[in-house]
Amino acid sequence: MMKHGFNLAIDGPAGAGKSTIAKRVAREKNYIYVDTGAMYRAMALYLIRQKIAPEDTEEISKACMQAEISIEYQHGEQVVLLNGENVNAYLRTEEVGNMASYSSAVPAVREKLVELQRKLAKTADVVMDGRDIGTVVLPDADVKIYLTASSHTRAKRRYLELLEKGETADIEQIEQDIKERDYRDMHREHSPLRQAEDAVLLDSSGLTIEEVVERILDLCR
Ligand code: DC
Repeated sequence: MMKHGFNLAIDGPAGAGKSTIAKRVAREKNYIYVDTGAMYRAMALYLIRQKIAPEDTEEISKACMQAEISIEYQHGEQVVLLNGENVNAYLRTEEVGNMASYSSAVPAVREKLVELQRKLAKTADVVMDGRDIGTVVLPDADVKIYLTASSHTRAKRRYLELLEKGETADIEQIEQDIKERDYRDMHREHSPLRQAEDAVLLDSSGLTIEEVVERILDLCR
């Protein structure tokens, strides 16, 4: 396979800090940050709007063909377009996240989005984060990171994030949701979340953002 650009893959469970870390690394290196979770979330938003049930695999397979997902960059920020509409503002809710964890298990959804992700990585230097980047999307990535943290740490981070946005949240409910989402992400049949054999394991539980970023920049050198 012809390869262009530097590809850094960051995988790990929900709330491990992937997007924060990936954004910083991208800024440092002047790479493009590709948030693949946002693509799965945009697809989930489409399915919610179509009133499709999370367990209805058959309808999801059909409906996803009608959702055209693409991405653009505005002032260095990834903007996700769903049938031409900028849907960034609707993606980071628990409802969309929960639907995404079901719909992302459907092969038709994955095929469509993986194709888009590979195209992006071919044409530019990218930091791409997700669940299957090092294992499936970019198996030849130059550097692979598996970023994790305890479910308690991750729940606390999500909780603070929601408070900051002025939303109320129940930390125990969040931790419960995180555990269930981990289970679904790790045990699904297609492209489950797992550490690639050649990925470097980083546990961010006791580390600051800067420390994690430094470790990754070191690995890229
Ligand atoms: O990282 P996130 O919370 O935005 O991801 C939303 C959902 O999408 C999550 O349940 C896992 C799924 N996902 C995936 O299956 N593969 C990816 N590469 C990225 C996300």
